[in-house]
Amino acid sequence: MTDLSDIRSRFPGIVGGIGARWARFDGPGGTQVVDAAIEAAAEWQRSGRNANSHGAFAAADACDALVERTSEVMGRLLGADPGGMVFGPSTTANMMALTRAIGRGLGSGDEIVCTTLDHDSNVSPWLLLSEDTGATVRMAAFDSDSGRLEVEAVTSLIGPSTRWVAVTGSSNAVGTIPDVAAVVEAAHEAGARVVVDGVHLTPHRSVDVTTLGCDVYTTSSYKWYGPHAGIMWVEPGLLDELDVYTGRAAPQRGPGRLQYGTPSWEALAGIEAAAHFLLSVGMDDVAASEAVRFGRLLDGLHAIDRVRVVGPPDAADRAPTLMFEVSGLTPATVAEHLARQHVAVWDGHNYAVDAMVPLGLDAEAGAVRAGISIYTTDEDVDRLLYGLAGLAA
Ligand SMILES: Cc1ncc(COP(=O)(O)O)c(C=O)c1O
Repeated sequence: MTDLSDIRSRFPGIVGGIGARWARFDGPGGTQVVDAAIEAAAEWQRSGRNANSHGAFAAADACDALVERTSEVMGRLLGADPGGMVFGPSTTANMMALTRAIGRGLGSGDEIVCTTLDHDSNVSPWLLLSEDTGATVRMAAFDSDSGRLEVEAVTSLIGPSTRWVAVTGSSNAVGTIPDVAAVVEAAHEAGARVVVDGVHLTPHRSVDVTTLGCDVYTTSSYKWYGPHAGIMWVEPGLLDELDVYTGRAAPQRGPGRLQYGTPSWEALAGIEAAAHFLLSVGMDDVAASEAVRFGRLLDGLHAIDRVRVVGPPDAADRAPTLMFEVSGLTPATVAEHLARQHVAVWDGHNYAVDAMVPLGLDAEAGAVRAGISIYTTDEDVDRLLYGLAGLAA
């Protein structure tokens, strides 16, 4: 396994400035940016290559080449055809664009299957579509005791009227990783297509979209050490088939159909660098290293009396993200207490809006969420645990 102990030096936001004082467990909401991605975005803007695509001059060629390179490296990171990479401002924006196009072909009698484990960006766009088209959204419930979404919970809702299935690759609340390939297989057998929200999965696991077999896979580079942007892979045949909402002069084929206006070239430069960074470390090594910190965090939390870990008690089939609550205290109070000790955690529902009540939590207040990132150390984990032990005493 690659030794990742030096990796923190690659993150100026962790080793410098105010970052150096903080233990950062807020990665599931957005990570710090790797040096190569910061440099690439800045270098692009300094270079004179800022222009637009499809022109007669060198800078325009450079823009085309940037799209090609970034699509290619994203294809390698995700195990997907580079021809399907759509670059947008965020996954939520990409999902709104996708579902708006899909909606033009839906009507009453059509069904969409969503899940209660998903981030709202893979639910609300479908609910809006249902309002507009009369299609029905059926919600597959995860198992509230285990925090896991069983394949059967989804497949039992798939039938001849199902047109789309929208399922998470990994919960951004409790980290659990459903068997998405099995869901895809059942959906395809029924003639339905599948969108996988890979936003929380991509930073923590080696992903192979071709093996998953899904039709659409979404990810956001600011969750994996890159800039704020969303990348949505759409199976190229489907991409050309979709009845997209777009301008008259926009491309008639390929990813440009779902990209509105000029992409952020500087973001693409950052995405390219961040994807190369992950590939150079190796996702299996990332997962193995994060698993060690996550085990330490889970064990430590279980050992504190007033702490309840929400969701599964173990680390199996799970990204290194968890939620917990401290009895007698609101999640916000706990987060504020930890912040005073320079430990950054999120509290609330974290947009997993349908997951909170089944997990025994208040719909709004949710719980405290802590996520391990590539740069998290044992010392960070101990600081969080120490901070909580003091609070819970
Ligand atoms: C699992 C998951 N899906 C989707 C999103 C939305 O991503 P974006 O902020 O790029 O719209 C997030 C962001 O927190 C997420 O964690």
